[in-house]
Amino acid sequence: MTAPLKHGDPIVVDVALADRAYDIVIGRDLLDSLGARVAALRPGVRTAIVTDRRVARYWLERTEASLGAAGIATAPIVVEEGEGSKTYAGLERVSEALIAAKIERNDLVIALGGGVVGDLAGFAAAILRRGVDFVQVPTSLLAQVDSSVGGKTGINSPQGKNLLGAFHQPLLVVADTSVLDTLSPRQFRAGYAEIAKYGVLGDAAFFTWLETSHADILKGGAAREHAIATSCRAKAAIVARDERETGDRALLNLGHTFGHALEAATGFSDRLFHGEGVAIGMVLAAEFSASLGMIAPQDAARIARHLADVGLPTHLQDIAGFAQEGLADADALLALMAQDKKVRRGRLTFILLEAVGRAVIARDVDGALVRDFLAAKLARRPQ
Ligand code: GLY
Repeated sequence: MTAPLKHGDPIVVDVALADRAYDIVIGRDLLDSLGARVAALRPGVRTAIVTDRRVARYWLERTEASLGAAGIATAPIVVEEGEGSKTYAGLERVSEALIAAKIERNDLVIALGGGVVGDLAGFAAAILRRGVDFVQVPTSLLAQVDSSVGGKTGINSPQGKNLLGAFHQPLLVVADTSVLDTLSPRQFRAGYAEIAKYGVLGDAAFFTWLETSHADILKGGAAREHAIATSCRAKAAIVARDERETGDRALLNLGHTFGHALEAATGFSDRLFHGEGVAIGMVLAAEFSASLGMIAPQDAARIARHLADVGLPTHLQDIAGFAQEGLADADALLALMAQDKKVRRGRLTFILLEAVGRAVIARDVDGALVRDFLAAKLARRPQ
């Protein structure tokens, strides 16, 4: 894997889903070309732009200007920032606003924002008039490399995350990498965990490149675009062969069974961003795999070292307030994992590792093994 040397034209990644195939376009300053791209796909269309308050402050005007210059009518729908909008109430508000904006079957919903906005706007589009197309304009690194691609949309139930939703593929994804410049370093690093995930789960050469290139990716420039495009290609390939997650798509959940339990234990709050939970979860998945004799302990340590080098949390004990709030209890963590969607009739599914770059789906994992592993981790202070 060689590093790209300079910025060039946008990179286009194809998601090969037959009659629902679409492009992911990746590059700097692409917001300005959004209108022309949408007009080329759907001349004469009306659009509603769903976004959140923070993103609207930075990018709504420029998005509206781009669409307006291409002769496309827009209506803004601005929700509150954060997971609190991914609710029944948030869905009602967006759906009613789309109807009020007269978005019809051939019109388009534009999701301008991070994962929350993409999931919410995509789900509203999926159910509006039994299905209206939508365009993803992801503004967080996490959304650019993961949630905007692949068609998973939905909201949370009071009983669990993402329990209501639909597969609804976007018509187009426009990932403007310059909008990432306004992310905090912590938010950027959290998104980076999902980039590292693609190396860990299926591309050892990419992981090796990341080990030496992560500082360039954080700085911006061609390395950032290359990392995003490589991640999108990896995801697109998996989605193209298993759109509905009946098989290989589950590999994308590497680090998520542990990670979601930690997110739930911290109340899905700012104490642990999703990507930070995935980083700790990936390390736990690697170490659990090592404890089962599946991967060499030094490979598990290599994964942890890279994520720590980037500045991500890698230990349970890295989570603020960890010991005080029942997080240090293996049974409580196991109970949280049992509420996850990745549970079938009480048996846990984990994505485990055979090597850096080779993940496998392990269905039917014995909960007692997981509990003993976690109890041992909790008893040890990290070095
Ligand atoms: N984020 C995992 C997936 O899209 O399947």
